[in-house]
Amino acid sequence: MKNKLPSSFYNPITLAGAAIAAISFGLILFLMLLEAVSGGQKPYMGIIAFVVLPTFLLTGIVLIVVGILREHRREKAGIHIDRKFPVLDLNDPRHRRATVIFSLGTILLLLFSAFGSFKAYEYTDSDEFCGTLCHSVMEPEYTAYQFSPHAKVGCVQCHIGSGADWFVKSKLSGAYQVYSVLFNKYSRPIPTPIENLRPAQETCEQCHWPKHFFNQKKHVNTYYLSDEHNSMFNVNLLMNIGGGNIEAGPTSGIHWHMNIANEIMYAAVDSQRLQIPWIRMKDADGKTTIFRSTEIQFDENQLKDIRLRRMDCIDCHNRPTHIYHEPATSVNHLMSLGWVDHELPFVKSISVEALERPYRIKRTALDSIRIIIYNFYETNYPSLTKEKKKEIERTIEEVQKIYSRNYFPEMQVNWKNFPNHIGHMYSPGCFRCHDGKHVSDDGRVLSKDCNVCHTILSQEYDHQKMRISLSGIDYIHPVDIGNEWMTVNCSECHGK
Ligand code: HEC
Ligand code: HEC
Ligand code: HEC
Ligand code: HEC
Ligand code: HEC
Ligand code: HEC
Repeated sequence: MKNKLPSSFYNPITLAGAAIAAISFGLILFLMLLEAVSGGQKPYMGIIAFVVLPTFLLTGIVLIVVGILREHRREKAGIHIDRKFPVLDLNDPRHRRATVIFSLGTILLLLFSAFGSFKAYEYTDSDEFCGTLCHSVMEPEYTAYQFSPHAKVGCVQCHIGSGADWFVKSKLSGAYQVYSVLFNKYSRPIPTPIENLRPAQETCEQCHWPKHFFNQKKHVNTYYLSDEHNSMFNVNLLMNIGGGNIEAGPTSGIHWHMNIANEIMYAAVDSQRLQIPWIRMKDADGKTTIFRSTEIQFDENQLKDIRLRRMDCIDCHNRPTHIYHEPATSVNHLMSLGWVDHELPFVKSISVEALERPYRIKRTALDSIRIIIYNFYETNYPSLTKEKKKEIERTIEEVQKIYSRNYFPEMQVNWKNFPNHIGHMYSPGCFRCHDGKHVSDDGRVLSKDCNVCHTILSQEYDHQKMRISLSGIDYIHPVDIGNEWMTVNCSECHGK
């Protein structure tokens, strides 16, 4: 047999390298074909095809080179090794059998490993993998996600998206995350916002493109106060979620102003981006306006060192899926459904109180919630406790469920550590800028007018007559706090 390649190629290291390289190359081709045929986004498949396998391919190539160099060195040193391959004679039945078994075995092995690795990607693609692999660490995010509007959207579709560069980036930070979990070095809670989140245009806008933002969206909100009768308060809001489709109606509204025509850059002085002293807006005509806070002390020389952020979806929708609800919202909601009986005296206030106590572990929290609520009625309303045993039992169960879905004491996750920027009631949200205290040089103020972002259609308080108007009514705060709801941000009283 005559060697087609230089003799230095025929040494065990180089041959092993060639085999590894060839198999990896074959698998890469197979995966690329599979991805092309199966369609859809399979981010983790890409990681294997473009990150893991090429590493093997490279290792193979390096081995080839190392083997050849080693052979050359040995030749120079005068060491001569006469390598002989075994002779294969297909006329010999024993050789024939061995060849058939070997070839079939290799083919089967290749097929199985291809199939096996395919199954492996499918698994790493799943939300289960992302949500439960580091179970206790990601439990809050995974639980909240399962009860959110995006429960059927894969983790990878928001956190990685498609394209090879983001696999690499997320895998690099992922490798550090695995290390920090193994060595218990991760922070509790996981810090938010995520510094290197992929730009929303490449994730959110794959499903929600701005042309689809038009019309208004009605919110019907029912509240119960903390008094003995759990007095009811009702507000109907029409959110102006208008956007960028001129053919579909008015082009004003929350989304149009924020995203399509204008470029809004801002500087935040804290890591959670809650304190915003400086905003620069460039409108469709290229005119620049700078709004400065009259409240937050800020030296503009610092602008050189602060990374300005361009406003995108995440600056309002930072909790599209990991939503940790405030206790008042959750209890109001269950009371309006009748699952928590609004005829139980003080049920709103005692439920919120039971949820908000500082607990260390979930187990004790759930037990304490039962004890707090039960004891409250037993002590203050003994006869009612017998009469309404079923309702109190149901209330306790529902409040425990609220706790399980929204509080994760082991990871220090709750609504206070993860403020939601949509709205303004429990965290500053829109009022980080629209607080009526951000002013431009020519005296323009970022408006806090109650009927700009939404129209307050109607309002009803306990037994008073409903006030209603299609063009918006003046807001009246349910309890008398004078003018403070206009001058102080709602979250100063309703937040933490
Ligand atoms: C609809 C898009 C979306 C989906 C689906 C999604 N996330 Fe997130 N995730 C986000 C956004 C947005 C943030 C917060 C970004 C910020 O504030 O910087 C976030 C933040 C996180 C954080 C950091 C802590 C926090 O809450 O800010 C973790 C951890 C996380 N996600 C894990 C997951 C896991 C695990 C899944 C799947 C079970 C998942 N995510 C699914 C959009 C999503
Ligand atoms: C893979 C597609 C997909 C991606 C990616 C995605 N969403 Fe969604 N989004 C959905 C679906 C489906 C719904 C649910 C619609 C429904 O229930 O009517 C939804 C609903 C929403 C809603 C309405 C929630 C509500 O309370 O009704 C908001 C807001 C939203 N998404 C924002 C985002 C943001 C911000 C991102 C990026 C971080 C994002 N989405 C990424 C598919 C997606
Ligand atoms: C200025 C803040 C802001 C920005 C920036 C923003 N949104 Fe919204 N968006 C809102 C508000 C407020 C609502 C209404 C919320 C509600 O009804 O609870 C909303 C509603 C939505 C809805 C639900 C619409 C419906 O018909 O129910 C989707 C989907 C959505 N936004 C996606 C996005 C995406 C994608 C981006 C980025 C391109 C984005 N938003 C940027 C504030 C914003
Ligand atoms: C980073 C600062 C910032 C945040 C946060 C912010 N906005 Fe704005 N918003 C602006 C700026 C700047 C303008 C342009 C004001 C102007 O043109 O006078 C604007 C304009 C608007 C307008 C148009 C007002 C008009 O006069 O027509 C609406 C509606 C709006 N924002 C809604 C929201 C909502 C809802 C939120 C919260 C979900 C929000 N904004 C959060 C900076 C912000
Ligand atoms: C910059 C825009 C903006 C301005 C100005 C604004 N709001 Fe809102 N408001 C919102 C958004 C966005 C939400 C919806 C939050 C959500 O989807 O949960 C909201 C929600 C509310 C709610 C329901 C709160 C809840 O979570 O149950 C009330 C009540 C309310 N607004 C009253 C007011 C009053 C009163 C004013 C005037 C002082 C005002 N708003 C000014 C944007 C605004
Ligand atoms: C000075 C403090 C203060 C400010 C500022 C304030 N509130 Fe309140 N608010 C209260 C108090 C006190 C109650 C009664 C709480 C209770 O009975 O549970 C209340 C009750 C409410 C309730 C009904 C009960 C519930 O479920 O929480 C709503 C809705 C409400 N406020 C909306 C707002 C909005 C919107 C703003 C901002 C525009 C605002 N408040 C600003 C003190 C304040």
